[in-house]
Amino acid sequence: MLQQMFTQRQSCRNYSTKPVEHDKLVKVLEAGMIAPSSRNRQPWHFHVCGEKTLPLVKDACQIYGKNPFLTNCPQLIVVTTPPPVVVDKSAMPLWTAQDFRPFDVGLAVMQMCLQATELGLSTCMIGLLCQEMIQQAIGTNEEVKIVLALGYANEADEIRPKIRRTMDETVTFLD
Ligand SMILES: Cc1cc2nc3c(=O)[nH]c(=O)nc-3n(C[C@H](O)[C@H](O)[C@H](O)COP(=O)(O)O)c2cc1C
Repeated sequence: MLQQMFTQRQSCRNYSTKPVEHDKLVKVLEAGMIAPSSRNRQPWHFHVCGEKTLPLVKDACQIYGKNPFLTNCPQLIVVTTPPPVVVDKSAMPLWTAQDFRPFDVGLAVMQMCLQATELGLSTCMIGLLCQEMIQQAIGTNEEVKIVLALGYANEADEIRPKIRRTMDETVTFLD
């Protein structure tokens, strides 16, 4: 079942204009909200675009003619993150204090993608964007980490095989 979700989830670049039902949208958001995060900080905020902000955020993701498939996409969710927490390492000098915000946001967004897949929806994580345009469009100073495109794929959109590096290239079994 989970394996099926992994193969069915793919970056959709062919959306129909069919709107996303509100209850399904809420389920997708809830899937992100319950994701794990370092120290349970939940360093994310999901900005669900409405009528006014949708075209502005699309413009910001379509700079230089990129992401043309977003034109039909009925729903965009902007994921922002608050500023990093300043950590005091004095008690644990060997501790490598990492900024886990990108990791945490990735977990939340992946859960949203998989939840969407289970609901028959399609997604695409959009990283090619103009941060400043989006901040202005949605009225935030928070860092924009990703825009999640959400909608129904056109019927002609088939599941593609996953092109990935091999096990040998990816995994080292240590002594
Ligand atoms: C952080 C991130 C940013 C991405 N940005 C874009 C993007 O701007 N436009 C796009 O079409 N796909 C984008 N993708 C989708 C990747 O190209 C895609 O996940 C990868 O090629 C694997 O294909 P799959 O998602 O269909 O399995 C992004 C994916 C990630 C994780």
